[in-house]
Amino acid sequence: MNDRVVVGYSLSQRFLHWATVLLVLFNLLLPDGMNAWYRIVRRGGMPSPEQIASANIHAYVGIAILLVTIIRLGLRFVQGVPSEAADEPATLRLAARLVHASLYLLLLALPVSGIATYYFGVDAAGSLHADVLKLILWIVIAAHVLGALAHQFYWKTDVLRRMTVG
Ligand code: HEM
Ligand code: HEM
Repeated sequence: MNDRVVVGYSLSQRFLHWATVLLVLFNLLLPDGMNAWYRIVRRGGMPSPEQIASANIHAYVGIAILLVTIIRLGLRFVQGVPSEAADEPATLRLAARLVHASLYLLLLALPVSGIATYYFGVDAAGSLHADVLKLILWIVIAAHVLGALAHQFYWKTDVLRRMTVG
């Protein structure tokens, strides 16, 4: 990361944050096509072309999330990120850091475990993906959103601004 003081997220960082939100919510809320494909294949059945197409949508959206996450980590490294609000308790600043790191890890681990299941037939990766990581992602997203609202409205540090209008 470079030494200059970073005052906000760049336009590309902001754009990719909200693109990630849309893609992640799509895969979290609409995985039924992929689930149906997986059930049929595990029982040795033959999915229809429509079932394969809707499973592919989940896979491609997930792969897009993986690529966007790698680009975001690259941008973070090159462009830096704004520092946490100095007037908040150190524990909250640490919590925000941990939540962001967990989000990045999950956005790498979910697609990787999905790819291992879908393209390489690793069933153990399937239960990690669909039972464990999915649940942890929901919990961390809830913490992230509540955290963002607490920063914004309780601590009155304008964090939403730096991830929206900049
Ligand atoms: C799928 C849901 C979401 C994911 C995966 C996600 C992911 C992330 C990640 C990884 C960061 C860290 C960026 C960095 O510093 O490199 C971040 C920052 C941020 N997110 Fe989200 N986010 C999500 C939803 C939301 C929502 C719904 C809001 C608004 C309430 C929000 C508001 C913010 C804000 C304000 C920051 C900047 C925090 C700061 O400046 O310290 N995010 N998000
Ligand atoms: C961040 C990206 C991803 C998210 C958030 C996500 C989310 C989900 C969710 C919510 C389910 C349903 C779990 C349930 O039964 O409740 C699921 C199932 C599944 N996903 Fe993903 N997914 C992602 C990426 C991928 C990718 C890239 C692939 C493959 C290329 C994939 C393959 C699968 C498979 C095979 C299942 C069925 C596994 C099983 O039921 O054991 N996913 N995913």
